[in-house]
Amino acid sequence: MSLPYITYFSLKEKYTYLNGLGNLHQSEAFPGSIPLVNNHPQHPPFGLRTEKISGTALTAQPRSNNLWTYLYRARPSYDHETFEPYKHHLETANPSPPKHLTPNSYVWPTFEIEKGDWTVQHLLGGTGSATEKVGMAVWLFHLDRDMPPQTAFSSQDGEALIVPQVGALDIQTEFGNLLVRQNEVAVIPRGVKYRVTLPEGRHARGYVLELYQGHFRLPDLGIIGSTGLASARDFEIPTAYFEGELVSQGDDQVAVPNNGPGKWTIISRLGTKLWAATQGATPFSVAGWQGTLYPYKYDVKRFNYIGNLNFDHADPSVFVILTAPAFGKQPGTAVVDFAAVGPRWNPPEKTLWIPWYHRNTASEFVFPIISEQDSTSPLNTGGKFGPWGAWLNSNMVAHGSNDGEYAEWQAKDTSKPEKLQDGGITAGIFETENALLLTDWAFKSAQKNFKDQISAAFEE
Ligand SMILES: [Fe+2]
Repeated sequence: MSLPYITYFSLKEKYTYLNGLGNLHQSEAFPGSIPLVNNHPQHPPFGLRTEKISGTALTAQPRSNNLWTYLYRARPSYDHETFEPYKHHLETANPSPPKHLTPNSYVWPTFEIEKGDWTVQHLLGGTGSATEKVGMAVWLFHLDRDMPPQTAFSSQDGEALIVPQVGALDIQTEFGNLLVRQNEVAVIPRGVKYRVTLPEGRHARGYVLELYQGHFRLPDLGIIGSTGLASARDFEIPTAYFEGELVSQGDDQVAVPNNGPGKWTIISRLGTKLWAATQGATPFSVAGWQGTLYPYKYDVKRFNYIGNLNFDHADPSVFVILTAPAFGKQPGTAVVDFAAVGPRWNPPEKTLWIPWYHRNTASEFVFPIISEQDSTSPLNTGGKFGPWGAWLNSNMVAHGSNDGEYAEWQAKDTSKPEKLQDGGITAGIFETENALLLTDWAFKSAQKNFKDQISAAFEE
């Protein structure tokens, strides 16, 4: 019998993972790739070099906030040619800075954006500054091809939360491989190199939240207790994958990478612009790693909803999967919260089950994730962002449902619980503390001041 609370993906898993977000993890492509006791031995195993990635200040406190990882790799990452500007004549490689802010609500029924590989991303908007490590940005992608062979991408601007709306991403990272399918999300830490291809050649489109400040983590549970919402054990961390093999040299075995026929190109985002450098060695030559900083993925269907059992609605903070605390602000304030609201039972009696009319000090960016896995479903065959692209309510922008919907839900019999949102769409939400400023194209292409976010979203 199938379990109702995991996604039955149409694309089957092909990689193995470690489980448990927040733990120290370690993984070896070959037994013995990680040195015993030493982090940084004089002679690492298999002729490897030790390289550390520090994801936080070296003295980050408390100790649980200190994120770092040691990689044991064939060639150190410094071994590359000079980075040069990469396609800076293109908006996708050198976007106009986000600057538009009005008191209006916005909706994008879809996004007409150029398709391409993973390096062709479109900056929709952001807050703060990548170079000052404050705030975040939202990027969009519509992939119709793999990244070219022997290319890798990284963002030095921030930690990427990747949310496919439709399709799947095969992500080869320095830490190992992640298969990220619609209704899953992935997080790639700042500076980690990865390469994105399309399994079975299917197109994929979706959203990237780039966090300039800090890291995503599970929210504290407070009075909920020790379990509930997203469970740490449901987060999957890649296992080490070495692109190459062990070769005997005299009495020793040496990890020899398969660097391929030509040079590799590393495309890196810094200050929202793309830069490129070549190098002789594959970046995917990590035979082992150990630490607290790593990529991971999560099936949003595994979320354990907490809700009201007699009347009213709890605040939507009970839907938060991952949060990025805004350090230095009032405790509980986040740079951004990520929530995904999907199928769940809704029991409260004599309660209007649609969200209340409200104004929020945070900004809400809301978009659909297609949880329906049947490739013949109209939700999956549209070929463009849909059934809507996204909507955005900036801070204190009033929003709610239209009069017709209000009347329809007032007429409901609430004496029995009902399954809500079981129609193949999960609503993804980026809730940001600061106002999301829009880039030129995003501002121009948005419909403004909609009164009814549902019907406006579906109008084209
Ligand atoms: Fe809202």
